[in-house]
Amino acid sequence: MTSTLLYHHLLLSVILLLHAPLCPAAAGGSWSVLLPSIGISAMHMQLLPNDRVVMYDRTDFGISNISLPNGKCRPNSTDCSAHSVEYDVGSNTIRPLMVLTNVWCSSGTLMPDGSLVQTGGWADGYRRVRIYKSCATCDWQEISNGLNQQRWYATNHLLPDGRQIIIGGRQAFNYEFYPKMSATENSPSFPFLVQTNDPNVENNLYPFVFLYPDGNLTKLSRPTRQCPAGNQGTTRALALRYYSL
Ligand SMILES: *[C@@H]1O[C@H](CO)[C@@H](O)[C@H](O)[C@H]1NC(C)=O
Ligand SMILES: *[C@@H]1O[C@H](CO)[C@@H](O)[C@H](O)[C@H]1NC(C)=O
Ligand SMILES: *[C@@H]1O[C@H](CO)[C@@H](O)[C@H](O)[C@H]1NC(C)=O
Repeated sequence: MTSTLLYHHLLLSVILLLHAPLCPAAAGGSWSVLLPSIGISAMHMQLLPNDRVVMYDRTDFGISNISLPNGKCRPNSTDCSAHSVEYDVGSNTIRPLMVLTNVWCSSGTLMPDGSLVQTGGWADGYRRVRIYKSCATCDWQEISNGLNQQRWYATNHLLPDGRQIIIGGRQAFNYEFYPKMSATENSPSFPFLVQTNDPNVENNLYPFVFLYPDGNLTKLSRPTRQCPAGNQGTTRALALRYYSL
């Protein structure tokens, strides 16, 4: 399919989406407050397959309003408040979690086993891979240099092979995968991110990325070029439209 056709196909999808009723009247939905506070600001949140919602906030903005359990504090820190919580939809309760590094404007996606793999962030979080696999007592696991590159405002997408691709981020004009196939797997450059980066504006952060049923990846950006995005010959990135924050 050419980019023009694909663009029209996407455009049509967007138009159809716009014409779909946002909230079907028949459902009679309504909002209600379930808890007065969850203790943190939910800068990021992810619904998990077991009806829990994991939420997390930056760690460098002072203490939160919920303490870590059992007098725990973050290592090398006087901050003993939690910057992540898990909400249990069934019991309407919150459980504080300990995220170790700064998740400010990080990114992530669910893996096939239902764990959340969450990457990058700010400062001590730049190259982190964090894994949260929900259970009654589980907490975040962090891998220090799990990413090859520092990533702040990157985009993650699950691929058909069960790995995730992690694309871009501030001054990271490349992409990589998690988990890696080998210790030497590198981060191929993605020149399109350079070409769509306006100096001092940083308007290609958090790129919109979609996976097609045929295994192709689409990054929404200017209709300019197609370039390979996989190291197995099965994944291709198609640059379509520019997204600006
Ligand atoms: C959370 O905020 C409430 C209301 O301001 C306060 O009473 C409570 O002590 C705070 N809890 C923590 C752990 O900061
Ligand atoms: C705590 O600080 C020490 C000394 O700087 C360092 O060796 C250690 O890795 C730090 N621990 C963590 C979890 O950051
Ligand atoms: C997906 O990639 C394959 C292989 O490059 C290509 O033949 C096909 O046209 C692509 N599909 C779309 C929708 O771009």
